[in-house]
Amino acid sequence: MSQHLDGILPHGGHLINRIATPQEKQEFLAQANFLPRVQLDERAFSDLVMIAIGGFSPLHGFMEKPDYEQVVTDMRLINGLPWSIPVTLSVAEAVAEPLKEGSWVRLDDPNGRFVGVLELTQKYRYNKAHEAVNVYRTDDIKHPGVEVVYNQGSINLAGPVWLLERDPHPQFPKYQIDPIESRRMFKEKGWKTIVGFQTRNPIHRAHEYIQKAAMETVDGLFLHPLVGATKDDDIPADVRMRCYEIILEHYYPKDRVILAINPSAMRYAGPREAIFHAIVRKNYGCTHFIVGRDHAGVGDYYGTYDAQYIFDEFEPGEMGIVPMMFEHAFYCKITGGMATTKTSPSTPEQRIHLSGTKVREMLRRGELPPPEFSRPEVAAELARAMRVPTEV
Ligand code: ADX
Repeated sequence: MSQHLDGILPHGGHLINRIATPQEKQEFLAQANFLPRVQLDERAFSDLVMIAIGGFSPLHGFMEKPDYEQVVTDMRLINGLPWSIPVTLSVAEAVAEPLKEGSWVRLDDPNGRFVGVLELTQKYRYNKAHEAVNVYRTDDIKHPGVEVVYNQGSINLAGPVWLLERDPHPQFPKYQIDPIESRRMFKEKGWKTIVGFQTRNPIHRAHEYIQKAAMETVDGLFLHPLVGATKDDDIPADVRMRCYEIILEHYYPKDRVILAINPSAMRYAGPREAIFHAIVRKNYGCTHFIVGRDHAGVGDYYGTYDAQYIFDEFEPGEMGIVPMMFEHAFYCKITGGMATTKTSPSTPEQRIHLSGTKVREMLRRGELPPPEFSRPEVAAELARAMRVPTEV
């Protein structure tokens, strides 16, 4: 793993910054009304932001065809670096048609606000089924990631981008910590080893268990919930953020954890997304990354540990961040604590495990998840948010 004075090296060696300088911004604003416009959806907007702040280093724009194809088929950029998820701006043919390669395109956010510029170097058609089967391992339209691919436009616009301005997050400004800042914070705290944790669910006890098992061997935890686009039945980000605040307040040492938001959109690509999530956390300065059971999975599309096995497809040094793998954790009635089959003698009947889906169903029925699954303070907050009457 390469480390230098400022911590672990970003993917590709340099932290990309594509936020327009004040001078560039003036130049872009002056042209705003003369440039052709493309409106970004929520995912494309968050991708623009991630590119601009260096979260997707070494990408400095939406992928051109050679990178796109090699990523889809071989999980690598054309410079050989591991990369598992296409980062593309896909638009309808009618939108792409009048745009000229070599020109600037004005990028508007989903509300129609001018937020960025694309230097259009290439536009190309791509094969959706090929992308779905390779990246998502299925072309089932019911898969939420595949559904996005099938519903998006059939032309990719590619080229370097600029973000006009880095605005504070409308909901969580305090937790908007970009890679340059997280790296500075790790250095200031004197942390040499930092484990990153991806999540799109309220923290439950299995999450807490694997985080704390990891924390025993590293200097700090970078708790990095994803707050970009998720599927409709996932718990909303503001509820999750309150749960993280509550659990950190009661159950974690204050000086060992940094809570920050990850603005990206969820792809639900399971194994491929685990690689992507690890690379992103490396860019934020993490040296380690937690991969538990069915990481970034959805439904039954992936095997429980597929997101761990996929790391074997790269040489250990290539990723430049160490995956910390954890087995399926549960509450063990025999030992009276959280455990996995590696540490508990229990039979399946002696274990308490609930999936995020089951908990959401319970909350909808007005039931509270038990303390063996969720810390009571978190369960109470979830119940409150889902308007379940409770005495906790
Ligand atoms: S994810 O889509 O972001 O992966 P989630 O927030 O549930 O979903 O998971 C966050 C991390 O915790 C992932 O690495 C996942 O594999 C891990 N994880 C979730 N539940 C368990 C569990 N019961 N045992 C072990 N790891 C788990």
